[in-house]
Amino acid sequence: MRSKVAIIGAGPAGLLLGQLLHACGIDNVILERQTADYVLGRIRAGLLEEGTVGLLDEVGAGQRAHREGLIHHGLELAFGGARHRIDMHAATGKTVMIYGQTEVTLDLMNARQQAGLTTIYQAADVQPHDFDTDHPRVSYVKDGKAGEITCDFIAGCDGFHGVSRASVPAQAIKMFERVYPFGWLGILSDTPPVSHELIYNNHERGFALCTMRSMHRSRYYVQCSLDDHIDQWPDERFWDELKRRLDQKAADELITGPSIEKSIAPLRSFVAEPMRFGRMFLAGDASHIVPPTGAKGLNLAASDVHYLSQALREYYDEKSSAGIDNYSARALARVWKAVRFSWWMTSMLHKFPDQGEFGARIQLAELDYLVSSKAASTSLSENYVGLPL
Ligand code: APR
Ligand code: PHB
Repeated sequence: MRSKVAIIGAGPAGLLLGQLLHACGIDNVILERQTADYVLGRIRAGLLEEGTVGLLDEVGAGQRAHREGLIHHGLELAFGGARHRIDMHAATGKTVMIYGQTEVTLDLMNARQQAGLTTIYQAADVQPHDFDTDHPRVSYVKDGKAGEITCDFIAGCDGFHGVSRASVPAQAIKMFERVYPFGWLGILSDTPPVSHELIYNNHERGFALCTMRSMHRSRYYVQCSLDDHIDQWPDERFWDELKRRLDQKAADELITGPSIEKSIAPLRSFVAEPMRFGRMFLAGDASHIVPPTGAKGLNLAASDVHYLSQALREYYDEKSSAGIDNYSARALARVWKAVRFSWWMTSMLHKFPDQGEFGARIQLAELDYLVSSKAASTSLSENYVGLPL
């Protein structure tokens, strides 16, 4: 099979890239290791920057998000027993939208299907080849039969554990990493959210986050130990621990119910540089991971593929390689700012094993400064709603 662009991975990065390319007439094929149902079963964050919603609109996949998404103008920071609101909209004129990643993925899958574009699900042994030449190709096995896509470019949108980054010679890539000494235990429950906006809690027992998927479905997280196992966290224990970390009003108003999903995720900051290797580009989690504090992961995947689609459009329409030559530097400039922001949010809000009483006081001083200084809360807001694309 031949296609201008072979995309590896049908997560949000690969699917959005496919639609952005299609919108400028660039044909593409996606190879995905899992089934579509499996991809849709992964529960992840659910907060979209305006720029990300704009990209969904650009490819005609934003209607349901506008109907069902919840627009948030602010967020709350809770520490020292009290809650403080940050008015992001007043500070920046922008809002964020609560709309689950699963829904974004479903909307993009439907758009792809309507456009009649090829996605090969359950593609095994996917392997990019010859991306250092003018004739790259991707081999795979489907239903026991070997297949190959010859293409002009390969887009590695296959997440942190994908094959694209792993195919690059070690001397051509530099990796930066910080692994945090805790995880997030998250549950989803069909209960109304405790507050209509998100509450980020710094507490001596550890961080907690109150978020939501809709006005009937809540998502809560508590910081946990990396040694913890999900079996050690029956629902009652989760709700008890969450309540202990909330301010009194939130603890009193919290409506609990059976969990419909429960999982533990480790926290990591990771960047691989560069994001281009000849005729192969990396985008999304394939090239960087952020801790979920601030929900930048999906939004960064969206900005990467926005830059990449512009670069490829320039290549085909204007016969210019300037965009593809600049892709890595342009994407990384935004990536590192989001890596910094999510590292900073994580550092300020979590309990670190070695922070001691001094570290805890520094966190409280920083939070107090944030909620009392216009400059500081504007800086948080500007990053939270998303830096310009
Ligand atoms: N061959 C084919 N597909 C693969 C391979 C492979 N060898 N390895 C991984 N994949 C697929 C995965 O099954 C997955 O569907 O690539 C896809 C990568 O999707 P995500 O992990 O969702 O990554 P991305 O699209 O970059 O999305 C980034 O989504 O999950 C969040 O934290 C993430 O929010 C961030 C955003
Ligand atoms: C979520 O809704 O899952 C979410 C929201 C904000 C975050 C992290 C996760 O910072």
